[in-house]
Amino acid sequence: MLIDKKLNDAINEQIGHEFGAMLQYVAIATWFDGEGLPRLAQHFYRQAEEEKTHAMRLVHYIVEAGGTVVIPAIPAGKSGFSSAEEAVQLSLDQEKTVTDQINALTDLAIKTNDHAARIMLDWFVTEQIEEVSSMDTLLRMVQRAGESGLLFVEQFLASGQFTQSAEGGTGAE
Ligand SMILES: [Fe+2]
Ligand SMILES: [Fe+2]
Repeated sequence: MLIDKKLNDAINEQIGHEFGAMLQYVAIATWFDGEGLPRLAQHFYRQAEEEKTHAMRLVHYIVEAGGTVVIPAIPAGKSGFSSAEEAVQLSLDQEKTVTDQINALTDLAIKTNDHAARIMLDWFVTEQIEEVSSMDTLLRMVQRAGESGLLFVEQFLASGQFTQSAEGGTGAE
């Protein structure tokens, strides 16, 4: 076993957080669908897929490092929202929380002198910068548009410019 038990446990916890983020984004996407905002829905379905790949990256790392994968219980997320702003604000808060979790995990990898885990986590550190930044942009866009201007946000998302700039920033998924 190449991986320290404490770090293995902490990565398992993070797998739960990433799957939790995935489920939260699915809930947000379905809410947007119900509101007749298919592009915002699509954006969040896509975010959900990304969170799944994050969880799986960690799963594969533990397996490769000879550790043990234990998927924790995932707490229920939030399903109903009073506005688009509330849903996107929750998403931004979630990304900020995940950033703190990734930083703490990286601290633990450094403390246990686990260079392989640290290098693997570097990808997540960079990814979180992009995730927080693009969600922050979306929040400001939704706030500026207001509830009656959400169709402009839909148009912008449909143009593909938003995903392009989000993907162009760091080259991360
Ligand atoms: Fe993630
Ligand atoms: Fe994320």
